[in-house]
Amino acid sequence: MLAEQKTIDQHLDPITIGLRPGLEGVPVTQSAICDIDGIKGELKYRGYPIADLAAQSSFLETTYLLIWGNLPSPQQLRDFEREVQMHRRVSFRVRDMMKCFPASGHPMDALQSCAASLGLFYSRRAIDNPQYVYDAVVRLIAKIPTMVAAFQLIRKGQDPIQPRDDLAYSANFLYMLTEREPDPLSARIFDRCLILHAEHSLNASTFSARVTASTLTDPYAVVASAVGTLAGPLHGGANEDVIKMLEDIRLPENSSSYLDKAIAHKQKIMGFGHREYKVKDPRASILQGLAEELFARFGKDEMYDVARALEKEASNRLGAKGIYPNVDFYSGLVYRKLGIPRDLFTPVFAISRVAGWLAHWREQLGANRIFRPSQIYTGVKTRKWKPAEERSTPENS
Ligand code: ACO
Repeated sequence: MLAEQKTIDQHLDPITIGLRPGLEGVPVTQSAICDIDGIKGELKYRGYPIADLAAQSSFLETTYLLIWGNLPSPQQLRDFEREVQMHRRVSFRVRDMMKCFPASGHPMDALQSCAASLGLFYSRRAIDNPQYVYDAVVRLIAKIPTMVAAFQLIRKGQDPIQPRDDLAYSANFLYMLTEREPDPLSARIFDRCLILHAEHSLNASTFSARVTASTLTDPYAVVASAVGTLAGPLHGGANEDVIKMLEDIRLPENSSSYLDKAIAHKQKIMGFGHREYKVKDPRASILQGLAEELFARFGKDEMYDVARALEKEASNRLGAKGIYPNVDFYSGLVYRKLGIPRDLFTPVFAISRVAGWLAHWREQLGANRIFRPSQIYTGVKTRKWKPAEERSTPENS
């Protein structure tokens, strides 16, 4: 270590002067959108308990609630549903762009590119115009599912299926994805999944959305940056890894030895743990119920018994640290039963979370100050540049 660097380190205790890695416990905004009680295991959108919304609302109604602050009147809901339905199609140029993507690419990367590309088609950055804001919300909510379904067919070498106007939002997505009209139970359960994933305060992707929004860029860039953040395995990408993990464990009786090894090697158990919750995530409990409803109708997924055994064993070992199943633990089992391929689990999460991102986009614009945190510099203070021939090793250059 260089002499100058020692001097810097000696004078600064990062934690004493306010460094909070991962911003844990640091409020960075005020928000009226979502309220979490991580000790009681409660989640509310705009004051409504998540269980009530998941049981009684629809995804589009919940989206309206999140973005505009109140449940819509019947007329407002009809108008919003109709507008979304009218904007479901995506330009042939976006579909052609997807045809140039490698079929082996991850659908989250495809989605991020497509979401960003909407900014090229609707480039007027009139974010202080209420009509522009409404239109952008409608377009993003309407087109993201179409783009996810289109990439799925394109990468199989097929042409995308056009949206069907006689189908509601969730039924239409499953239809475009699986090429057959879903039964009402599957469509309703998928819609409930979208409600459950729609918003969750300042998680990494929503924070990312707010940071991007704070620069006053367009909403398509806001959503594209959030999609990129959601993709990581510590965030939305965990739902894919849960299924991989359950398949590796294979049998319920293997879950104990799997955990022993994972804990000994300090490996994270995917689908467990949450910065906010110290109890089981309320969404995980509801998703588990949805999985059971599907299994009762269409037959059980054998990985469900593995999941339950793992939950029991992991809660015994990790519960004292407040580590329990999060939203990603049971969602993959539901999606699998609905015929959704594993690498589309996170894009499906994005279809839903775009509602929360847009709610935060609007809220950020309502009281904007650009995000620009500070840092504690730990590098060398000043160095004298030398020509290449006078440099020896990097340490003493
Ligand atoms: N398995 C085992 N141990 C865990 C887990 C886990 N899944 N999660 C946290 N821990 C342990 C850590 O090892 C650490 O233990 P230590 O204090 O003895 O070192 C302690 O709990 C704190 O862990 P952090 O990673 O610091 O907790 P943080 O709040 O930063 O992370 C996170 C939260 C990222 C969700 C973490 O629990 C995790 O990585 N979980 C697995 C990935 C996952 O399921 N992500 C989806 C989250 S939900 C969502 O984003 C939609």
